[in-house]
Amino acid sequence: MLNVAVLISGTGSNLRALLEAASDPTYPARVVSVGADRDAPGLAHAADFGVASFAVPFRAYDSREQWGEELAGQLRAWQPDLIVLSGLMRLLPAAVVAEFAPRIVNTHPAYLPEFPGAHGVRDALAAGAAQTGASVIQVDEGVDTGPILAQERVPIEPGDTEETLHARIKPVERRLLIDVVRRIAVGDIDLDAP
Ligand code: GAR
Repeated sequence: MLNVAVLISGTGSNLRALLEAASDPTYPARVVSVGADRDAPGLAHAADFGVASFAVPFRAYDSREQWGEELAGQLRAWQPDLIVLSGLMRLLPAAVVAEFAPRIVNTHPAYLPEFPGAHGVRDALAAGAAQTGASVIQVDEGVDTGPILAQERVPIEPGDTEETLHARIKPVERRLLIDVVRRIAVGDIDLDAP
């Protein structure tokens, strides 16, 4: 059984989908803890599934590094086999990446390396692209630069807004994330040699 810790910032709809998948006894991973960089509404999903949660509010620390030290301490306590960034809208400090890599993955609402960063959906619309996508990548010290583990195209429809497009991307992200975590758990994806 693969023990997964999930980090979020927002509503956590993708987290909820992973919690639902993991509640199936045949799924080879379980969520042991959910953390957030703020008082995120998505932490409530953890409670719904009887999973522990914690918040390490970024704004309560003097530096990104100090925040990262506390975050790493919380994660360490759970001894996760994998950390999933599921809408964590904060760059992890290098020391945190160094401690847990290569066992950190991130979901992103674009077809990387297209449209990296915090506004992947908005940037694809602003660029006038005909299509965008969803990606699950391994986290390195860059911004969305790690090895791509899974990705899929999503067409941009006429009249799409950031909200409508993001709403069509998220179900694709969920499917990819649940499948990537499963493949890591059963050894189909080797994070040491992706
Ligand atoms: C997801 O689309 C995720 O890919 C994105 O935030 C959303 C979180 O949604 N992450 C990023 O943009 C990271 N750069 P959720 O809170 O409803 O799961």
